[in-house]
Amino acid sequence: MGNILEIRDLSVIYDERDTAVRGLNMDVPEGSVVAIVGESGSGKSTVIRSVMGLLSSGARIASGEILFHGKDLVRMPEKQKRLLRGRRMSLIFQDAAASLDPRKKIGYQYAEVLLSHMDITKAEALDKAEETLRHISMPDPGRILDSYPFELSGGMVQRVAIAMAVSMGSELLLADEPTSALDVTIQIQVVDLLMEMKRRFGTTIMLVTHNIGVASYMADLIAVMRHGELVEIGTRDEIILAPKQDYTKMLISSVPDMEVTV
Ligand SMILES: Nc1ncnc2c1ncn2[C@@H]1O[C@H](COP(=O)(O)OP(=O)(O)OP(=O)(O)O)[C@@H](O)[C@H]1O
Ligand SMILES: [Mg+2]
Repeated sequence: MGNILEIRDLSVIYDERDTAVRGLNMDVPEGSVVAIVGESGSGKSTVIRSVMGLLSSGARIASGEILFHGKDLVRMPEKQKRLLRGRRMSLIFQDAAASLDPRKKIGYQYAEVLLSHMDITKAEALDKAEETLRHISMPDPGRILDSYPFELSGGMVQRVAIAMAVSMGSELLLADEPTSALDVTIQIQVVDLLMEMKRRFGTTIMLVTHNIGVASYMADLIAVMRHGELVEIGTRDEIILAPKQDYTKMLISSVPDMEVTV
């Protein structure tokens, strides 16, 4: 299979001063899970946001290309990119609950998302939402849809957010620390859901995580970033079992029970 995404020589600058990403090259094979790891401030979120076309206002892509199925997202008109977002690529944040409106029931918001992209009725949207939640083994989908976000646990809301992305049929799921705000048992459920999506729908996942254990468990490829640059990229085994760079070795050795997750 080919690459769904090819990042070529990407550089991103904030406020015309700080280069947050410098000359980044990265291929994302279709159907794979690629994890980006690295210390805080290394540019992980900036890469994800560049792909999604959701950089903050002071940011500018100074150079490079981001090819999605061979088409350059950097030079694509905003209108065209908007059609891709949601439909073909989705972004899941660390705190998905924050992106939901606390005053509206989950079902209403879920339907709204579907209706904005699909030519279906509201009843059909709700059916689809329920079907997807059932698909990913969420308990009592009807009750979930009839709840306000604050009536569900953080992990539940995170999984609903992921389900919304699935319903849109996104081929590429960008996830920025999707499990970091959750406690360990819920983290595992979210990770398993992401893996099930990959298995079932062939979804490609680009995941940012500071948790090397999660990266090691989920990823086919691991990219290590530092100071806006790619330190190294390789298969899970290459990076976890035989890291070449000292920085990668240091990252891995700082995880106390790495053996358990490998
Ligand atoms: N909106 C912004 N304005 C100015 N500088 C920013 C902005 N967002 C990020 N930066 C800077 O860009 C660099 C990369 O930040 P980024 O958020 O991509 O890192 P990260 O690897 O995701 O870090 P973390 O693990 O803490 O989330 C940092 O030096 C950061 O200070
Ligand atoms: Mg970040």
